[in-house]
Parts: sequence; structure tokens; C-alpha cells
Amino acid sequence: MALQKTLSLLLLLLLTLLGLGLVQPSYGKSMSDQFYWQHVDSSVTRGDDSYCNDRMQKQGMTTDSCKQLNTFIHENNSTINSICNNRSIPCKNGRKNCHKGSLRVTDCLYTGGFHPNNCKYSATASTRDVTIACERNPQNVLVPVHLDG
Ligand SMILES: *[C@@H]1O[C@H](CO)[C@@H](O)[C@H](O)[C@H]1NC(C)=O
Ligand SMILES: *[C@@H]1O[C@H](CO)[C@@H](O)[C@H](O)[C@H]1NC(C)=O
Ligand SMILES: *[C@@H]1O[C@H](CO)[C@@H](O)[C@H](O)[C@H]1NC(C)=O
Repeated sequence: MALQKTLSLLLLLLLTLLGLGLVQPSYGKSMSDQFYWQHVDSSVTRGDDSYCNDRMQKQGMTTDSCKQLNTFIHENNSTINSICNNRSIPCKNGRKNCHKGSLRVTDCLYTGGFHPNNCKYSATASTRDVTIACERNPQNVLVPVHLDG
């Protein structure tokens, strides 16, 4: 009986932590997968307006509403990941796990139209300083988890 009680308490605790998002289930997308999905496209070196229109929709950023602004990075994984080894700088939220490096990007800015299929974007392609937050993955390697600017 005592064991059963302990087990149900543990289960309750786990469910609470999951609910608070303090424990990340190992299934589904990791923060880093999410970062890559939303911000990385190594298949091109720059994008124009129609690239933004297509890519924003394809990556699911026009489903519930048209996302206002999104940046796509056009570099390979090793170039992007290597920025995590640059010195740490403060992120906008005050944490100190951000890092800066110069990357080829396309910034997509919402200009009008309606979700989910008709959001219109204006593209600005450039090589600019990008700030990314990095965290250690389960293999203890620093990987990007968030685009900070
Ligand atoms: C780059 O890394 C992401 C996230 O780990 C992965 O999904 C993607 O397949 C990788 N791309 C290449 C070309 O290895
Ligand atoms: C990644 O891109 C950089 C810069 O464009 C290049 O020097 C490097 O060889 C590439 N690495 C891989 C693994 O493709
Ligand atoms: C790391 O920082 C240096 C100095 O700011 C910069 O030149 C370099 O491009 C950065 N590294 C990467 C991988 O971007």
C-alpha cells in the first residue's frame, strides 16, 4: 500500500513537471530541431519575396496567424554550430548563453495577406551578425536552441 502511494505521488509529480514544461519528453522535436526547422535552410544562399512567402508557409509559421518576422539562415550545420563556441554574451532575456557570428540570412517581414495560405512577406537578404542561444544536447555538445537577434 505504502509503495503504491509513493508511486502515485511520483506519477503526479512527473505529470506536474511535464505540465509546467520543466521536463522535456524525449519524443518529439528538441529545441535544437525546432531551431533548425524554423531558422535554417542550407539549400539556398539567399531568398526573395516569393521565397519568404513559400518558406514561411511550408515551415508552419502561417498556420494560426501570419508570423510577423522570421529569419532563415543559409549556412551549413557546422558553420552555424561553430558559433556556439564563440565567447558568450548576454541574451535579451538576461541569460548569458548567447553567441554572435556573421552569417548569410534572409529576413522575412510580414507585409499583408491572410493566414494560412496567403501571408505576404518582404525579403531582405544579407550577411549580418546573428545572435543565437546555445545549450548542451544529451551528447553534451553545444547546439543552437534559439535565435536572439
Ligand atoms: C542539421 O542539423 C539538424 C538538427 O540537428 C538536422 O535536423 C539536419 O538534418 C542537419 N542537416 C544536415 C545537412 O546535416
Ligand atoms: C560549411 O560551409 C563553410 C563555409 O561556407 C565551408 O567552408 C565548409 O567547408 C562547409 N562544411 C561542410 C561540412 O560542408
Ligand atoms: C566568432 O566571433 C568572431 C569575432 O566576432 C567572428 O569573426 C566569427 O565570425 C565568429 N565565429 C563564427 C563561427 O561566426
